[in-house]
Amino acid sequence: MLPTPGTMRCLSLPSGWGLPLDRQCTFGLLLASQLLFLLYYTFGGIRSMALQLWRGPQPAWDYSRTQDVYTNLSLIQLLLPGTHHLAYCPQKPPYLVGPLAIAFNRTPSLDEIWDRNRLVTPGGFYTPPNCQARHRTAVIVPHRHREPHLRHFLYYIHPFLQRQQLQYGLYIIHQAGNETFNRAKLLNVGVKEAMKDEDWDCLYLHDVDLIPENDHNIYTCDPSHPKHVSIAMNKFGYQLPYRTYFGGVSAVTPEQYLRMNGFPNEYWGWGGEDDDIATRLQLAGMTISRPPLSVGRYKMIKHNSDRGNEQNPRRFDLLLRTRRSWTQDGMNSLVYTTLAHQRHPLFTNVTVDIGPAPRRPGTLRPQTHKGSLASLRAAGV
Ligand SMILES: *[C@@H]1O[C@H](CO)[C@@H](O)[C@H](O)[C@H]1NC(C)=O
Ligand SMILES: *[C@@H]1O[C@H](CO)[C@@H](O)[C@H](O)[C@H]1NC(C)=O
Ligand SMILES: *[C@@H]1O[C@H](CO)[C@@H](O)[C@H](O)[C@H]1NC(C)=O
Repeated sequence: MLPTPGTMRCLSLPSGWGLPLDRQCTFGLLLASQLLFLLYYTFGGIRSMALQLWRGPQPAWDYSRTQDVYTNLSLIQLLLPGTHHLAYCPQKPPYLVGPLAIAFNRTPSLDEIWDRNRLVTPGGFYTPPNCQARHRTAVIVPHRHREPHLRHFLYYIHPFLQRQQLQYGLYIIHQAGNETFNRAKLLNVGVKEAMKDEDWDCLYLHDVDLIPENDHNIYTCDPSHPKHVSIAMNKFGYQLPYRTYFGGVSAVTPEQYLRMNGFPNEYWGWGGEDDDIATRLQLAGMTISRPPLSVGRYKMIKHNSDRGNEQNPRRFDLLLRTRRSWTQDGMNSLVYTTLAHQRHPLFTNVTVDIGPAPRRPGTLRPQTHKGSLASLRAAGV
């Protein structure tokens, strides 16, 4: 509906600004549009602006009342009334239960897990059977010598993601050999391998020993910010250990991931790589978003520190160098050899040789293979 000249008045400006009426009008409109523009960018887009302005009171979850993670899963899988194959899944998944019962006293067998997740297809893929998923999420898990943890993880994560009606794929990135573990480089490999399969719109970077405790923690990305998800772990008393903490579970879109040149390849051993990632996303001009503390809760499976994953003694030294190194060390310098790419019934098992650690752990090696973002994109990453 077009406003008629009679109804269009510039009431936003007080009279007596010494401007003729038509100039007042232009000035007022200019001011209003500037203000909107500013608001738009402050809140990072219409969608998150709307979320900021109309976010209702956040529910306080009662974690003394938990549900089994398989509760009513068959309803979600098969019995939704009036199934339309082409209709999108509801905005809000209908059968979420909130806090989940999680225990690690018995390690389930792979057969048992497969038996309870019959709609998962080889490679660990799932698509909701009776509606079209709104989101496509790849969950990427760096792994070595943690088979019992992996079984706990699979037992919980599959029904958890199915409750959320996502299309998803599960990638276990297995570091071959006995070299020092390199989590961040395995994540780079995982992203690259996952993007070859499917045009995922969200990448979940997930430690194998963290189990989400609330299915309202929806595994989708924030289009305007990299998201740190595991903000409340039992290990840290369900609090964020420090403000820039980015470890455990985080989520980025492929665009956000490329913008920060992926993750560092040069962190061998325990610690520091998640701080580097937090630093590089800031250097790339982005800020971290987080879910509410009562939703981003995780239980960690207890373990002793692993052999071959000792604390990286030079991790603080490296952090100082991030500022200079992030544009050279990352996705554009990633070199690895895929030894096997197997579709296990419950996950895709990518086994990689990521090369030897430098003799002094944490030392930056000279870069030999440099690509460009353009060539990466051409390669479909
Ligand atoms: C499971 O489904 C039944 C039958 O529809 C329903 O009565 C019950 O509330 C559901 N349970 C949960 C936890 O949603
Ligand atoms: C790794 O170490 C194990 C035992 O420590 C040994 O049996 C195996 O041959 C080693 N593998 C490689 C590739 O060096
Ligand atoms: C993944 O594949 C490799 C190579 O076939 C194998 O050694 C490893 O045990 C597999 N990992 C899992 C978790 O099945």
